Amino acid sequence: MILAEGLGKTYVSGGRPLPVLKDVSLHIAPEAFVAILGPSGSGKTTLLGLLAGLDEPSSGRVCLDGVDLTTLTEDQRAGFRARNVGFVFQTFHLLPTLTALENVLVPLELMGGQQARDLRDGPRGLLERVGLGDRVDHYPTQLSGGEQQRVALARAFANRPRILFADEPTGNLDQETGGVVIELMETLNREARTTLVLVTHDLTLAARAHRIVRLAGGRVVEDTGVGAGPTAEIAGPRAEPAGPQAELGEA
Ligand SMILES: Nc1ncnc2c1ncn2[C@@H]1O[C@H](COP(=O)(O)OP(=O)(O)O)[C@@H](O)[C@H]1O
Ligand SMILES: [Mg+2]
Repeated sequence: MILAEGLGKTYVSGGRPLPVLKDVSLHIAPEAFVAILGPSGSGKTTLLGLLAGLDEPSSGRVCLDGVDLTTLTEDQRAGFRARNVGFVFQTFHLLPTLTALENVLVPLELMGGQQARDLRDGPRGLLERVGLGDRVDHYPTQLSGGEQQRVALARAFANRPRILFADEPTGNLDQETGGVVIELMETLNREARTTLVLVTHDLTLAARAHRIVRLAGGRVVEDTGVGAGPTAEIAGPRAEPAGPQAELGEA
């Protein structure tokens, strides 16, 4: 369960405070599949980073599975993420000196212990599932943008995270490859019971989510999960998609 209370984030830009997230509160049930939508600059990436414990809020707090991230040190947060969280960055963040396979193994190095050793056979299969079985020894510079994105996805799955955050995971993919990636995430959501929180402009992807949270100007302006209780989004096969067509015109 993800619980965000009164989240705010203010950057300092040119000596002036720039509030980009304002009083965001969210309850996300275990095994939910939530899509965060909103125009460019509305704070989606910032929100995802705070929910995942990659960044610290200026106000409010985030609890993941009962752990208040704001009470942890940076090292403790990193350890918590290594065990529980997968993250697909909008800009991939692959390590340039490592091959595709080595990149996907990184989360297991960070995790360590027997649990990581048990998962060591996974990365090759994950790369095969995203269609990169013949690219495992390629370095990021030898891969196209879409291929790098798929490596980033495979890497985010490597530690079998309980919660997967993905920032526009199909943003650089053609429709067919995007479909494979969406399917992989849905399978993970269903079979591995992974909570999915995605930022997307992809209508196909948004329509598959069980819940839509829409941001504008750093605030939640629509949340199809509100009022129905914290477990609403896992009740029933698929909640009504909240008219993702409205996204068409957005950046
Ligand atoms: N590190 C930063 N320092 C200053 N401003 C930032 C920083 N990161 C993001 N911003 C600003 O915060 C706003 C929200 O950014 P972001 O969360 O990336 O939006 P989105 O993902 O919805 O496009 C933007 O106006 C952006 O310029
Ligand atoms: Mg963004």
